[in-house]
Amino acid sequence: MEKKTVILAIESSCDDTSSAVIVDGVLMSNVIASQKVHEEYGGVVPELASRAHQQNILPVVDTALKRAGVAKEELSAIAFTRGPGLLGSLLVGTSFAKGLALSLGIPLIDVNHLQGHVLAHFVEPSVELIAQTPSLQGAEIKHPSFPFLCLLVSGGNSQVVLVKAYNDMEIIGQTIDDAAGEAFDKCAKVLGLPYPGGPWVDKLAKLGNPDKYPFAKPNIPGYDYSFSGLKTSFLYTLRDMLKEHGVETIDELAEKVPNLREDMCASLQTTVVDILMRKLKKAAQDLKISQVAVAGGVSANSALRQAFIDYGKRFHWEVFIPPFSFTTDNAAMVCQAGYFKYLDGDFCRIDEVPYAKTTI
Ligand code: KG4
Repeated sequence: MEKKTVILAIESSCDDTSSAVIVDGVLMSNVIASQKVHEEYGGVVPELASRAHQQNILPVVDTALKRAGVAKEELSAIAFTRGPGLLGSLLVGTSFAKGLALSLGIPLIDVNHLQGHVLAHFVEPSVELIAQTPSLQGAEIKHPSFPFLCLLVSGGNSQVVLVKAYNDMEIIGQTIDDAAGEAFDKCAKVLGLPYPGGPWVDKLAKLGNPDKYPFAKPNIPGYDYSFSGLKTSFLYTLRDMLKEHGVETIDELAEKVPNLREDMCASLQTTVVDILMRKLKKAAQDLKISQVAVAGGVSANSALRQAFIDYGKRFHWEVFIPPFSFTTDNAAMVCQAGYFKYLDGDFCRIDEVPYAKTTI
C-alpha cells in the first residue's frame, strides 16, 4: 500500500494559536485557540501573545492530530509559519515545529503567512470536517485557476497579488501606510468599540447610512493603496461634531447625534470597500484577468464580500470568496501551502529563524 502524505501545520504569527492536518491533499482538522487576553488592552500585546501561545500550542497540536485521526509517527513533514508576524509569537510555533520535526526525523517546511492566506483558496476540507464545522456548511468550495488576482486584506496588509502559480506570486499593489484592517480597527477604537474593531464596524454598519459622512478617498497612482487620509478624515469629522455640539466625549456626542456610531461605521465601511475594489478593478482590466479572489481577515467583511459578488456580475469575473473559517489566521492555509511545498520537495533547514517582516 502506498504511504500517505500527512502534513501537520502550526500557525502562531499573531494572537491565534492554530494547528491543522492535511492527508493526501485533504484537510482533516483545523484547530484554533484565540486569545481573549488582549481585549482589555484594545490591541494585541506581543508579550502576552507569546506567553499564551506557549500555553496553547501543545493542546492545540494534540487536538489537531486527534481530530484528524493521525498518530504523530504517521506525519510526513511539519509546516510552520515563519513570518511575517510578531517575532515572539512566531518563535513559539517555529521552535515547537523544529522540536517535533527533529524528534520524528521528518522534514520541516517554512511557510510565508501571506502566501498562506492566498493559498487558503486551495484548501479542500474533508466531508467529516465540513459536517463538524458550521461555517463550512453550505460554503462554496472552489479553486481559482492561474493566473488570478488576489486582494489580500488583513490587519497588517492590503495588497493586490498576481498569482501565477502556487509558488509564484507577485505583489502588484500595496498600501503605502495603514492596512485596511488597521483603518477599521483604529477608527473603531476612536468610536469606543472593542478590539478588534473590524467585526464591530461590520455589525453596526448594517444599521447605518453609508452616505451620511463623505470621507476622503486617496488619489495615488497605480494599484497602491493608502488609508491614512481616510483615518484623518474620520477623526476630523468627529472632532468637528464634538466642537459643534459642545461636548467632549463620543458617548456624549452619541446622545446628541442619533445613530452616530452606526452611520460613521456604514460610511467608513463603504469608503474602505470602494477604495479596495476600484484598484482591484483597474488591475483586472489592465491585466485582462477575470479570476479574482479575496483573502485575509478583512475578507470576512460582509460589504466587501457583497462587493465581490456585485463586481463579479458587472465585470464578468469569476470570484472566489473563502469560507469564514479560512479568512482570519488559521493553520489550514499554512498546511495547504506546506503541502504544495512538500510536493515540490521544498524543505527548510533546521537552523532557519522566523522573520517579522517580509513581502510575498
Ligand atoms: O488576517 P487577520 O486575522 O490577521 C492579520 O492581520 O494577519 O486579520 C485581522 C483583521 C483585523 O484588522 C480585523 O478587524 C479584521 O481583520 N476583520 C474585519 C472583519 N473581521 C475581521 N474587518 C472588517 N469586517 C469584518 N467582518
